[in-house]
Amino acid sequence: MSRFWSPVVQNLSPYVPGEQPRQDGVVKLNTNENPYPPSAHALAAIASAADRLRLYPDPSALALRETIADHYGVAPEEVFVGNGSDEVLAHTFQALLKHDAPLLFPDITYSFYPVYCSLYGIRYEEVPLDAAMGVEIADYRLPCGAIILPNPNAPTGIGLSRETIGRLLAEHPDQPVVIDEAYVDFGGESAVPLVARHDNLLIVQTLSKSRALAGLRVGFAIGQRPLIEALERVKDSFNSYPLDCLAIAGAAAAIKDGAWFAETRQRIMASRQSLVRDLSELGFEVLPSVANFVFGRHRGYSGADLAARLRERGVLVRHFGKPRIEDFLRITVGTEEQCSRLIAVLRDLI
Ligand SMILES: Cc1ncc(COP(=O)(O)O)c(C=O)c1O
Repeated sequence: MSRFWSPVVQNLSPYVPGEQPRQDGVVKLNTNENPYPPSAHALAAIASAADRLRLYPDPSALALRETIADHYGVAPEEVFVGNGSDEVLAHTFQALLKHDAPLLFPDITYSFYPVYCSLYGIRYEEVPLDAAMGVEIADYRLPCGAIILPNPNAPTGIGLSRETIGRLLAEHPDQPVVIDEAYVDFGGESAVPLVARHDNLLIVQTLSKSRALAGLRVGFAIGQRPLIEALERVKDSFNSYPLDCLAIAGAAAAIKDGAWFAETRQRIMASRQSLVRDLSELGFEVLPSVANFVFGRHRGYSGADLAARLRERGVLVRHFGKPRIEDFLRITVGTEEQCSRLIAVLRDLI
């Protein structure tokens, strides 16, 4: 606290990202990174883009937007890119989600959403997940200015079908509906095909998870032109060059590498299946996940205690001290070896 702080800063409760340990040898299953190295084509593109570092990058990142547009079957003008999907989301909150009526999102969801609301002064209401920890779209029939949902939801990993998202859109034709698809590539159903029919739909995705490029910081949004234009207006009032030339080149090459993508996502989905089976055998109740993480609790142990004891043994997982989920652990699906190590340590502890 300082007398120099503005009232906004005094009232912020900033987001706390998962720990990034400095020492090697830690089994890091706490921040939903991809356990495999990125596409070799992406790394080569990043290396050769270094020749252009003297110059400012293309402020509109057109080459990357064209690649994304081509991949998803939309027009480049329907694509917005930013410095990680967190930045895309931040602009979205300011550009599309701030209205007189409250913004709706689940009570248990990505914990950055309320932080953006306090930064931008957005009124919001949290809609409780149902008893099975799922999003029930009928519960969103409330007066509201906009809706944001991650699909699959984080930290539960539970997904909604495209048909369900279509029903949500049909019920709220006059409000912007944002679907945060950070984890959709691990078995979820993307709502991108609905963009052509719904002028109120914005999809946000990231290259941090399924493309293994969390360190490059690239995210994007897909929506009809007026929604994208709103994001561009905020971006061009904030930072003209959010993506550097390495990020633009690496991200485009990663999107084009279909073989790398297909292989690594299959491996992660297969590891998820064995991880769920092993955790269940150890007495965990694990929610049905279509993400690159699982969310589960053990009947006999507190979540905080298990997370702390795993940490002492060099295994990091994420624990949220929040009502309803305080006994859950969110565990990123790692390599086969990392998952085996986690299970071996848990067998010792339980
Ligand atoms: C639901 C959700 N959305 C968005 C993000 C942001 O990802 P990034 O800023 O790395 O693109 C995360 C990161 O963990 C997330 O869990």
